[in-house]
Amino acid sequence: DNIHTILRQMPKAELHIHIEGSLEPELIFALAERNRVELKYASVEELRRAYAFTDLQSFLDIYYAGASVLLTEQDFYDMTRAYLQRAHADKVRHAEIFFDPQTHTERGVEFATCINGIHRALEDAKAQWDMSGALIMCFLRHLSEEEAFATLELALPYRDKFIGIGLDSSERGHPPEKFARVFAQCRELGFHLVAHAGEEGPPAYISTALDVLHVERIDHGVRCLDDAALTQRLAREKIALTVCPLSNIKLRVFDCMPEHNFAKLLDAGVTLTVNSDDPAYFGGYINDNFLALFDALSLTQEHARQLARNSFAAAFIDTAAKQKYL
Ligand code: HPA
Ligand code: ZN
Repeated sequence: DNIHTILRQMPKAELHIHIEGSLEPELIFALAERNRVELKYASVEELRRAYAFTDLQSFLDIYYAGASVLLTEQDFYDMTRAYLQRAHADKVRHAEIFFDPQTHTERGVEFATCINGIHRALEDAKAQWDMSGALIMCFLRHLSEEEAFATLELALPYRDKFIGIGLDSSERGHPPEKFARVFAQCRELGFHLVAHAGEEGPPAYISTALDVLHVERIDHGVRCLDDAALTQRLAREKIALTVCPLSNIKLRVFDCMPEHNFAKLLDAGVTLTVNSDDPAYFGGYINDNFLALFDALSLTQEHARQLARNSFAAAFIDTAAKQKYL
């Protein structure tokens, strides 16, 4: 079998996908029309042309603007359904999906509207395709810890609908330790914990995400290689990084795919997974990420199998469910 076929056909789990980042320009325009929301772009083409990012912040500005068309439970359902359909086509058997409630509650959209719409789409995917899904609620790190606590309060009546807590948005200047107390409470409540760290920010943020927040996986984490001792620790402790290759190129973490440090991380023994991050904005879904990475770095069939195994091993699913895939 050729490597592209293997990559496309192998069952996999996706562990780093922001549901608001799966909103395609066509759906943004359709929802804007349905909800009579004014967009500052005249057409799908004009919006797509604005997707020329220089760094994380330049992306986030457009990503939050795109999310402004989401108003009703059906909007959240349609967005999530579209992602799950694409993921199913890419042989994703399990998806752990981030959502950013503060992006919506800040605009007057109820927490219930957002989580109920997303959750109903996950239930349908389970029933229809036997594809499992779970939600990870992210705090926006450019906002205060107090606002994170307020969001947790809003979320707790729905705690059976999400399994974990994450940390995303503008990384530089917003270290993990800013959220030490709210993560401690989430930990006591029994949630799984993850955080974006070492995407644009320094390796020290990876260390404090582990030591202060007690996260179980690191989202991105690619900048760990700037610190040899940290890299060795990640390898030794088998802490999985959820790497997003196309995202890293679009947001200029690396200049081009051949410059990506993925192969160096593998050689250092770090446990890696491949994910799409914000597929509607970064040029592709999970299989596009696998193909771009493997084409640029001449990785092998054995790497492909290992990455698929890693994705299930690092997932927040029970051992019996993992056994099916490992
Ligand atoms: N990094 C930080 N925050 C985000 C991202 C990302 O890649 N995507 C959506 N929110
Ligand atoms: Zn992300």
